[in-house]
Amino acid sequence: MTGRGLFLSFEGIDGSGKSTQARTLADTLRAQGREVVHTREPGGSPGAEEIRRLVLEGDPDRWSARTEILLFTAARRDHLERTILPALDAGKVVICDRFADSTRMYQGLRANGLREMVDTLHDLMIGCEPDRTILIDMDPATGLARAKGRQGSEERFEDFGEDLQRRMRAGFLHLARANPQRFRVIDGAQDTGAVAADVRAALSDILP
Ligand code: TYD
Repeated sequence: MTGRGLFLSFEGIDGSGKSTQARTLADTLRAQGREVVHTREPGGSPGAEEIRRLVLEGDPDRWSARTEILLFTAARRDHLERTILPALDAGKVVICDRFADSTRMYQGLRANGLREMVDTLHDLMIGCEPDRTILIDMDPATGLARAKGRQGSEERFEDFGEDLQRRMRAGFLHLARANPQRFRVIDGAQDTGAVAADVRAALSDILP
């Protein structure tokens, strides 16, 4: 389903530094003359950006976890159809800041049974995974301090606090162990340059 291009995703808890790393990688690959589409979730297409505003702004209790699963998956479906698949078909490198693993963790860990629901809906409506996922691993206390330092109206998930972030960190690491072909785990506590070097090394087999 992923065509001729290369589909890469970055994952991690809030404040892990994954967005900076995704941007750095996009810049590096473009400087090498590759065609890159740098995108994000929720969002990445006009329709999905509208859904992003619905889920990330306003009262944190606005949607139940189940409704969020539907909204994030709807956004992902639009993003896939309008942005990701056309770029992959054109042979481009797609760098996506978060993808389905974020729904598996952020929504799937909120109550018993939700994780299965996320996976079932994913199989039904999305049906593909990135060729490689870079997990920037980070201690939640450090990550939250970083995330809280940022300005803006998108506070939603950071506000669930350190306990959930701790469970998500463990969940991401578990996902990585269960999918060793797809995942590479990188220590996000290092300085930005060292993390970027690890990211390049983690892609050397598929992006020589
Ligand atoms: P993001 O813009 O990546 O924020 P950050 O840079 O702080 O990591 O993501 C916004 C928030 O949306 C983030 O708290 C994670 C959350 N999210 C979900 O809960 N489910 C999802 O499926 C996705 C893609 C993101």
